[in-house]
Formats: sequence, structure tokens, C-alpha cells
Amino acid sequence: MEALSPFERYQDLQRYVGWSAEDASRMLAAGPLVAGHFSTLADDFYEEIDRHPDARKVITGGQPQIVRLKRTMVRWMEELFSGEYDEQYVLRRCQIGHRHVEIGLSQVYTIAAISRLRSGLMDAVGLKWQGDSEGLLATRMSVNRLLDLDLALIEDAYQAEFHRREQSVQRLITIGQVAGGIAHELRNPLNIIKTSTYFLLNSQHAPPEKVRSHLERIDRQVNSSDAVIAGLNSFARLPVPELRRVDIRQFLKQLTETLELPQEITVQTQTTKDAGEIFGDPQQLSIVFSNLIRNACDAMPQGGRLQIAADLAKQGVEISVRDSGVGMDKEILQRVMDPLFTTKARGIGLGLSISRAIVEKHHGRLTASSETGKGTTFTVWLPEATDIPTGD
Ligand code: HEM
Repeated sequence: MEALSPFERYQDLQRYVGWSAEDASRMLAAGPLVAGHFSTLADDFYEEIDRHPDARKVITGGQPQIVRLKRTMVRWMEELFSGEYDEQYVLRRCQIGHRHVEIGLSQVYTIAAISRLRSGLMDAVGLKWQGDSEGLLATRMSVNRLLDLDLALIEDAYQAEFHRREQSVQRLITIGQVAGGIAHELRNPLNIIKTSTYFLLNSQHAPPEKVRSHLERIDRQVNSSDAVIAGLNSFARLPVPELRRVDIRQFLKQLTETLELPQEITVQTQTTKDAGEIFGDPQQLSIVFSNLIRNACDAMPQGGRLQIAADLAKQGVEISVRDSGVGMDKEILQRVMDPLFTTKARGIGLGLSISRAIVEKHHGRLTASSETGKGTTFTVWLPEATDIPTGD
């Protein structure tokens, strides 16, 4: 569903609080009664601010700014009692919320200020009122409704702007982290390439096997740099998985055969005969399980036991990759799948977040449990093949 425009939202809120054309007429009629008080109310407004250092600190322009702000306040009150409560009115209220974020004003002061002005306006309406008490009550209700609506608009715009700014700060931090991660990952291969190129350029009489070994080194480093960029690419644009029936037992068997695991690691594969079939994209699932297995091996630098198990579980298939390595504490475990989080000296911390994204695109779940000193288990749950329509 498309988001409502600020004005549509305002109209929705007007219906919510029961605002009607009669309210607008009452405001218009009360205008001349209260207009003489606006200036005093604006003075009171700023005197009160002066008593609250956290509110006062956002006024950085001294007396001239206060004079301007008082005029702004008076204009705001004039608009309350004159309308039109149209699109421009709404946008001006939204602008207040935005401006308050810009100057770093805590929203609590606007709420307190509205409360104070509300009392002032209520008194002002009563002072010159000449009609009956029912009419006075109805007018005061209209003022209340309008102030609530104004506050809702200011608050809404404040929150939206606050959130937008926070996100853009967060984006900048992420860009910085990604850039730092890439720089870190590429520096090493580039240094090696530079050294080998220097050798090739400066040693005219080097034996052919030496030249070949340097060219091979360059080739390897180009490949590893390429892998860093490919990892980033696959994170940024993960293609929609091409789902087909995958026999989990066979899939894991083929995968573990192709992976070159360190000799000091013992692999135990335990898949029940009927580990089940799922709908999956074998290429993408290979990324997931290669990542999990590689991580498990990294957690056991001195060697250890790697257990891969698959079994039927709760309308799906559960595949676990367990290592007997160093394990992780609670804090690390909580963050381990966050993009760019890594505890490794090398690696930019995208492997697990890519894996989780892939599993989720397969309507599955990736979870982790760990015990320091004992090891970590990553478990992938994928729905049984019958759960997802093939489309063919
Ligand atoms: C009833 C609550 C309030 C209303 C209706 C209100 C209204 C406004 C309006 C209309 C503006 C101008 C927005 C624009 O640039 O178009 C503004 C800006 C500002 N407000 Fe408020 N405000 C309120 C509460 C406060 C409070 C409690 C403070 C505390 C110091 C404050 C400080 C400011 C400041 C410093 C600016 C920037 C003014 C400038 O550009 O010099 N406001 N406010």
C-alpha cells in the first residue's frame, strides 16, 4: 500500500479526533477574542525557555533570534485561529518538526511548550467570551483538537526527519566500514602484485621458471582480489534463487568432496538415509555451506572435528555444521551474522550475512549456537520440497 501524503495523513487524523467544519468556524470566530494575547503568550513562551538550559542552548543567535522567534510564534498562533487547514498549512507544521531536528531541540520541550500555550489560549478564550458556557466549552474543545493535530504533525515530521538523519549517518558509517574492509583485503594482494611486477620489470636475465612463478603469483593475487569484489557484488545483488529439487544427502556429499579441507581436520558426515529433498538453488546453497564449513575450519586452527549432519525436522530439513573449535561468547554470537562484522584478521565479514540472506530467500532459517572452548554449531533449516510450489 502506498504511504499517505502528509496532507492525506492530516485528513485521516482530523477524522480520528472528530475535527469538523464547525471546529474550523469556531476557531475563526474565537480569533479576534484571543489575538490580543498572542504577543504576551509568545513572551511567556520564551521566558519559560530561558529557565531550561537544554531548551535554551538551541537558541544560538542571541536577542535578534529571540525577537524573530517570537514573531514566528505569533504567526503560528494567528494561523491556528485563521486556517485554512490546507496542504500548505500542513507543510508548514511539518517544517517545524524538521527545523527542530536540525537545531537539535529535544521534542519534549515542544510537547511541554504546547501544553503551556494550551493553558494560555484556554484562559485567553475565556477572558473575552460573551456567549454561553456551552459555546465556550465547544470552542475550547476545538482549540484542543487543533493543538493536538498540530502536535501530531510536528511530532510525526520530527520523528521522520530524526530517523532519516540517523539512517544517513548509519549509511556513511557502513560505507566507511566497507571501504575500510575492502582496502584491508586488497592491500595485501596489491603489495604482492607490486613486488612481483617490480621483479619482472627489473630483472632482464631472470630464469624462465622464476618469471613463471612471479606471473603465477600475480595471477593468484588477481583471483583473490576478484573474489573480494565478487563477494561484495553477491551481497549487493543477490539473484533470485532458481529453485529445483535438491537431494540434501547427495548435495552435501558432492560439496564435501569438492572442498579442500585442511588435513588436521577430521570430517564426520552424518546424514540419515532419508534426509529429504528441498527446493533450492544448488549454486547458492553451495555458497552457504562452503561458508559455514570454511568458518568451522577457521575456528579450528590447530585441527579438530567437523561434523556435518542432516536430518528431517519440523516440516523441513535441518543441516548442521558443527566444529570443535574455540567457540564464541554471547556478544559475538549475537553479531556474528551482521554484515561487516568479523573477528578474523582477514575477511570483511560478509560470508555469514550473505549465507543468511540466501537461506532466507529459500524461506529457511540460519541459526547459530556456541560454547566458548567447545565449539560452534550453525544450523540451516530449509522447508521440505512439498512446501514450496515448483511453478512448473
Ligand atoms: C509550541 C511549540 C513550538 C512551535 C509551534 C514552534 C514553532 C516553530 C516554527 C514555526 C519555527 C520555524 C520553522 C521554519 O524554519 O519554517 C521554529 C523554529 C525554531 N524553534 Fe520552535 N516551536 C516550538 C517549540 C520550540 C521550543 C520549545 C524551542 C526551544 C528553544 C524552539 C526553538 C526553535 C528554534 C531555535 C528555531 C529555529 C529558528 C530560526 O531559524 O532562527 N521551538 N519553531
